[in-house]
Amino acid sequence: MTNHLAVEMKGITKTFGDLRANDSVDIKITKGTIHAIIGENGAGKSTLMNILYGMYHPDSGTIYINGNEAVIHSPADAIKLGIGMVHQHFMLVNTLTVLENIILGDEVTGALNTIDKRRSRQKVKQILNNFDINIGLEEITGTLSIGTQQKIEIIKLLYRNAEILILDEPTAVLTPQETDELFKTLKVLKAEGKTILLITHKLNEVLGISEFITVLRNGKVTGNTETKDTDKDQLAGMILGGSFESIKRKQNSPAEEFILEIIGVSVRSDKGLPAVKDLSFEVHRGEIIGIAGVEGNGQHELIEAICGLRDYSGSFILNGKPADKDLPVAHIPANRHKHGIVMEYNLAENVLLGREGEAEFSTGVSIKEKALRAYTERLIKKYDIRPAEADLLIGGLSGGNQQKVVAAREMSKHTDLIVVSHPTRGLDIKAADFVHSVLLEESAKGKGIILVSSDLGELLKLSDRIAVMFNGKINAMLDSATTNEREIGSYMLGLSGSGGDKG
Ligand SMILES: Nc1ncnc2c1ncn2[C@@H]1O[C@H](COP(=O)(O)OP(=O)(O)OP(=O)(O)O)[C@@H](O)[C@H]1O
Ligand SMILES: [Mg+2]
Repeated sequence: MTNHLAVEMKGITKTFGDLRANDSVDIKITKGTIHAIIGENGAGKSTLMNILYGMYHPDSGTIYINGNEAVIHSPADAIKLGIGMVHQHFMLVNTLTVLENIILGDEVTGALNTIDKRRSRQKVKQILNNFDINIGLEEITGTLSIGTQQKIEIIKLLYRNAEILILDEPTAVLTPQETDELFKTLKVLKAEGKTILLITHKLNEVLGISEFITVLRNGKVTGNTETKDTDKDQLAGMILGGSFESIKRKQNSPAEEFILEIIGVSVRSDKGLPAVKDLSFEVHRGEIIGIAGVEGNGQHELIEAICGLRDYSGSFILNGKPADKDLPVAHIPANRHKHGIVMEYNLAENVLLGREGEAEFSTGVSIKEKALRAYTERLIKKYDIRPAEADLLIGGLSGGNQQKVVAAREMSKHTDLIVVSHPTRGLDIKAADFVHSVLLEESAKGKGIILVSSDLGELLKLSDRIAVMFNGKINAMLDSATTNEREIGSYMLGLSGSGGDKG
């Protein structure tokens, strides 16, 4: 053993029932580097990192930390060894201040065991200084952006003296700007000698920031490389076990007639402030309208109003008729854990969510179990959901496979209008491409689709027109055939166009 290795995992095997989530995995992580772990949905990435963090116990295998064999029974053991993990779903308390969240569970105690806030604050300030992170310690956590909340999670680890930081898909929920900031922070951490394990599906990110890459497939390591020696195509090959060609951009053109007319709609934010301001546009039959914008410019509130999740003023006309508050719409929400799935339900029950009353699945008195099962199995096959078992609890599925279930259910609904927010978040390259192909297919059938995404490449590939939101208004409606990322970006920032309503 050499101790230039921060982590070595040897022969790690972990099964869930018959399923081998990790199969004799060997991995070496050099101290002071950023090491990416990549692979298909369900490949075993989160499982391996959860083992390192003491959340799961391997059936067999050995872990060495800094050259010494380590027994990690719990996250508390991991923290003692200097290992910290930021999970895909943050574990912060929204109502507490930033400082309180950072020190929660690890307060510096003074005389009589009272929390010594002054000393805690000093320690946190020191960390912010050392790592060049800017954050207001007295702000209420729930009011802060996702990118900021993620920083709090990282500071929390540093506060516990973590030397090895595990980040499970940290960028999946971030805007491109927030991702840039996160990566700046990671580079500073690295320069200070920290070791970072990073899971992501975005190959550009992997190539941009990591020094080493390990690829997993079906629980096994299928590739180990220095980042400088590889490229996107080669990585895709290692991830999928074969070559892969992504779909072409949208071909069909929209019809003249409207599916949805949005007329003078205004919506307020959670804080009661105007978030969408007297906004109007139409969605044609067979059209995909992309919505671009820096997070917090009204996209979220607009989508919630269309989907009946938020009050609004103004009107929606669906297929030429004024619509009441409950538009029939298929919706892939941005936050699937809050609105998309029920973890305690099995796959079939999750497929049924929101469709309990449909004649296809209900006699009016009871659920048609057989029909539901057959339907679920068709979706499992079509969307390549793994493991392919209709009565499996969805909580046992990998993050990406959970997302596939939501996409499968919503895109198969019989509605003329589909509203999707970040539909490929957390999906591997092949699954993301498949969801793209289904969106194109549905639009070719004549449906109207509203697509919110922070991935401009995705918007340009799928949309007919791109509405750029800024300050609660549409700052530009661009033809996706003639625009580009630069132009969209400048409208997003309000550098071009009317700049929305500045008042
Ligand atoms: N608690 C659990 N119970 C049962 N099966 C599980 C559990 N956790 C993970 N699995 C299974 O182990 C396999 C690996 O899952 P894991 O979450 O490690 O994948 P992943 O590589 O992180 O995928 P993704 O990119 O979708 O997040 C999957 O088939 C998953 O269904
Ligand atoms: Mg995962």
